[in-house]
Amino acid sequence: MAFAITQTCCSDATCVSVCPVNCIHPTPEERAFGNTEMLHIDPKSCIDCGACADACPVDAIFPVERLTGGQREYARINAAYYEGEDHRPEQPVRGPVFHDWGAPSFDRVLPADFGPLRVAVVGTGPAGMYAARDLLLHTPAEVTLIDRLPVAGGLVRYGVAPDHPSTKKAGESFARFLTHPRVRLCLGLEVGDGGVTADELAAHHDAVIYAVGAPEARRLGVPGEDRPGSVAASEFVAWCNGHPDVAPDAFELSADRVVVVGNGNVALDAARLLVSDPATLQGTPIAAHALAGLRRGKVREVVVLGRRGPQHAAYTRPELLALKHLSGVDLLVDDHDPAVGAAIDGAADQDKAAVLKGVRREAVDWSLPPAADGRRRIVFRFLSAPAEVRGEESVRAVRVTGAAGEAEIPAGTVLRAVGHRGTPLDGLPFDESTGTVPNDRGRVTGRPGAYVVGWIKRGASGGIGANRVCATETVGSLLDDAASGRLPAPTGSARSFRRLARRRGR
Ligand SMILES: Cc1cc2nc3c(=O)[nH]c(=O)nc-3n(C[C@H](O)[C@H](O)[C@H](O)COP(=O)(O)OP(=O)(O)OC[C@H]3O[C@@H](n4cnc5c(N)ncnc54)[C@H](O)[C@@H]3O)c2cc1C
Ligand SMILES: NC(=O)c1ccc[n+]([C@@H]2O[C@H](COP(=O)([O-])OP(=O)(O)OC[C@H]3O[C@@H](n4cnc5c(N)ncnc54)[C@H](OP(=O)(O)O)[C@@H]3O)[C@@H](O)[C@H]2O)c1
Ligand code: SF4
Ligand code: SF4
Repeated sequence: MAFAITQTCCSDATCVSVCPVNCIHPTPEERAFGNTEMLHIDPKSCIDCGACADACPVDAIFPVERLTGGQREYARINAAYYEGEDHRPEQPVRGPVFHDWGAPSFDRVLPADFGPLRVAVVGTGPAGMYAARDLLLHTPAEVTLIDRLPVAGGLVRYGVAPDHPSTKKAGESFARFLTHPRVRLCLGLEVGDGGVTADELAAHHDAVIYAVGAPEARRLGVPGEDRPGSVAASEFVAWCNGHPDVAPDAFELSADRVVVVGNGNVALDAARLLVSDPATLQGTPIAAHALAGLRRGKVREVVVLGRRGPQHAAYTRPELLALKHLSGVDLLVDDHDPAVGAAIDGAADQDKAAVLKGVRREAVDWSLPPAADGRRRIVFRFLSAPAEVRGEESVRAVRVTGAAGEAEIPAGTVLRAVGHRGTPLDGLPFDESTGTVPNDRGRVTGRPGAYVVGWIKRGASGGIGANRVCATETVGSLLDDAASGRLPAPTGSARSFRRLARRRGR
């Protein structure tokens, strides 16, 4: 038998480094790593040692024989990866396949006798925590961890959907560094906006790593998008997670149909939470006010709107697959344009659109209310871009356009799930076109001693694990600069920063 990687994999590659036979791919050194949705175990090489399952921070790895329900499919998905063109052996293979190890790389250059650096990390989401972990595990650095919120965790705490408890567990592996003896934790302290400034941080630390994420939800740029009832999907997910900035009564959910614009994973998270039987959410970390709101809510149908076809959807296959196994929920593809069915029917097994094979297709009559048969449903409408959010006092409908024509989809709530962007921080350069801080391998342009990591560095793309490789690069740049004497010396002491933080914190 062998082990297999399943739905919750966030591609952080922790398992790669513990596998004694190098049978988990793609590795961060392989080109395919940048585009992969998850990692895969080669069943022909796996020696069943279980080391990867012990190391995985999100409990994504199981022995194949223990996979049940929808997870069973992952035995095939893992094996199929090694049957792809890049991996297919010339001759049929009977015994184990031996995977070559890449050349070793050493990206840590700090001399062993180097004194401890004082580093501030702003942001306690995955990017900040991977960077802090890297510094604490590989150097004697003292780390000041800062977050504007009173609770650490960033989007692992307030973004990851509450019905993804395994993914939330990534937070536990970060939490042990919050109490590390070389960490000083400053929660409720904002950089900017009346808290501490970038100059003050720089004056009290050898280096500052900004891991502030991409907090702004992208806009649609269509008329009516600011009508009451039209909000960001990430705000809805934050409400479900009890985010302190979202009021408990922010969502009423009194309409029977919700339109979610965009078809990335945030769109699927929002759709799934809206149609799930609230009983299945009980016992998850969902906020009590959100569970009560979903119980009271009237939503029977969620329309997920993609401006491109099913072959180009931004969601990942594991998240779409999971929807197919949601109890009491039907999936439907709106057959309004023959190109949608053609893309699904013509999809090869490994293509994303193939996951929709077998899902019912029907041209939806939007003049009718959602079916009242006791079931809930998610309708995928592809090749349709939002043109207007209509209504008088609040949202009444969304007008959509596409090559096959226009439609007006009646809905009481519109959730924008069209991505996120960073916001400018006083004292740092900012690129308006990308919503990121300009940088070279994490070094902030024109600001020696300042670094970026995570979504504020790369843009709002990639799951939790993608921030690990990103942090390795940024910390590598910082240590390189330290060893080469390129860090400006701090003028203030650790003690005076503590006093400042106490005065300015909330
Ligand atoms: C709704 C949602 C759900 C997601 N679910 C998943 C999932 O299930 N699986 C997965 O792999 N990926 C998921 N992702 C992606 C994942 O969350 C991101 O890859 C990751 O959080 C980005 O990390 P980050 O540290 O750059 O940003 P964040 O996690 O946003 O962390 C930024 C931190 O900086 C703090 N901060 C911001 N500005 C300041 C300031 N001025 N001063 C002090 N502190 C500040 C914030 O409070 C926050 O704690 C999800 C993303 C979203 C939006
Ligand atoms: N479970 C998980 O693993 C999980 C959960 C949540 C988030 N994440 C990750 O977090 C990252 C961000 O996710 P996300 O869903 O916020 O963003 P995303 O993956 O970038 O998806 C954004 C979606 O919005 C669409 N869009 C953008 N502008 C639009 C417009 N003006 N009109 C209509 N549609 C528009 C995009 O379509 P186009 O493709 O046509 O541009 C795309 O479908 C992703 O890497 C995601 O995988 C992971
Ligand atoms: S069980 Fe052992 S051999 Fe198999 S993939 Fe995991 S670490 Fe590698
Ligand atoms: S989350 Fe990380 S450790 Fe777990 S399977 Fe995915 S890459 Fe491996």
